[in-house]
Amino acid sequence: MHTTLLYNIGQLLTMDHHNGQAHGKAMQELPVFEDYALFMEDGKVSKVGPSDELEKLQADERVDCEGKLVTPGIVEPHTHLVFGGSREHEMALKQQGVPYLDILAQGGGILSTVKATRETSEEALYEKAMFHLDRMASYGITTVEAKSGYGMDEETELKQLRVAKKAGENHPLDVISTFLGAHAITKEFKENPQALLDEMARLFPIIKEEGLAEFVDIFTEEGVFSVEQSRDYLQKAKEHGFDVKLHADEIVPLGGTELAVELDARSGDHLAVASDEGIQALAKSNTIGVLLPGTIFYLGKGDFARARDMIEAGAAIAISTDFNPGSSVTENIQLIMSLAALKMKMTPEEIWHAVTVNAAHAINRGEEAGQIKVGRNADVVIWDAPNYMYIPYHYGVNHVNTVYKRGKKLYERGSLHG
Ligand code: NIG
Ligand code: FE
Repeated sequence: MHTTLLYNIGQLLTMDHHNGQAHGKAMQELPVFEDYALFMEDGKVSKVGPSDELEKLQADERVDCEGKLVTPGIVEPHTHLVFGGSREHEMALKQQGVPYLDILAQGGGILSTVKATRETSEEALYEKAMFHLDRMASYGITTVEAKSGYGMDEETELKQLRVAKKAGENHPLDVISTFLGAHAITKEFKENPQALLDEMARLFPIIKEEGLAEFVDIFTEEGVFSVEQSRDYLQKAKEHGFDVKLHADEIVPLGGTELAVELDARSGDHLAVASDEGIQALAKSNTIGVLLPGTIFYLGKGDFARARDMIEAGAAIAISTDFNPGSSVTENIQLIMSLAALKMKMTPEEIWHAVTVNAAHAINRGEEAGQIKVGRNADVVIWDAPNYMYIPYHYGVNHVNTVYKRGKKLYERGSLHG
């Protein structure tokens, strides 16, 4: 039996005050425990209480948190973790102002990553995914969703999903998989996109049978898949027992937010150009809005999702990096927390809900991740920060001091030598 005591915690966020996802005003309620301590036993949280009470306990490892902030491990609900190659050569096109969807229409963008992913071996994709998971862990992420979508043929989609599954089995982070076979229209299907959707839908039973994904996602966008095609495809996915997600209203407002609600999707993601009706519908629903301000920043666009309107209307909001090789090339969730504050005017309290409880619910892990609670896995981060407001405030750097995954030290900030 291994025990660890974290004591002298300056501020502890447990996020344990919610049953279920936090909607609207509830995202503002954030109990903060000062001078607290946390006891971990065999990978689980076993006691949480005032530091002067718990300090008396014997433990194999005693960690003086020196008044620092301690929170649950961050939950990252939207990444494109597994891909071949990279797209730095497209930076110049971006600088010349060529729009993202034009690069895609010319066979670049997502399609260039499709080519690279098809050409990369399963082993090489696995090594690369493990590398990115390590980096995510270093930023305080302890649970991560991973999408396929750079194959769009049977062989490569299944290859990506198998890589994500193996990475989740071998890496300390938990990896939750999403099948995004409907991510773009490859040149084989240019004349008949419906045939691509049919081909991808044919994989549903195989993916289900092999336990390769829990969610099915689609890119509902102009020049990609229409609202009607998306509805039909996702309905089929639901019939096969998948929960669904959508890349919705990212660039052109097509009504993807409304569709996410209509389908009772677990999440509608992006929502940068969601309509007023879409926002009202989202607010009345259980569908979580996963907002990705890093993508809007990276694409050089001005329309950040209207987080304030969404929260004021009563929606449950999560945020994420959207880590991928084209529209948001970063594993740094802390930078996204700053963008959420600066560009979407989310409060620090809302931001912490958006990267913990609500992010966990967006990937059906509300009962396991995103909260520090007795009996739960001890996924915990000690931050080099005096309080929770400090993280979005001091932007662009890594504030992590130590990450524990299931009670084991997974990452610790290095020190300079010399
Ligand atoms: O979430 N919008 C579609 N998919 C990704 C981008 C993928 C890529 O550019 O490689 C996104 O933005
Ligand atoms: Fe995405």
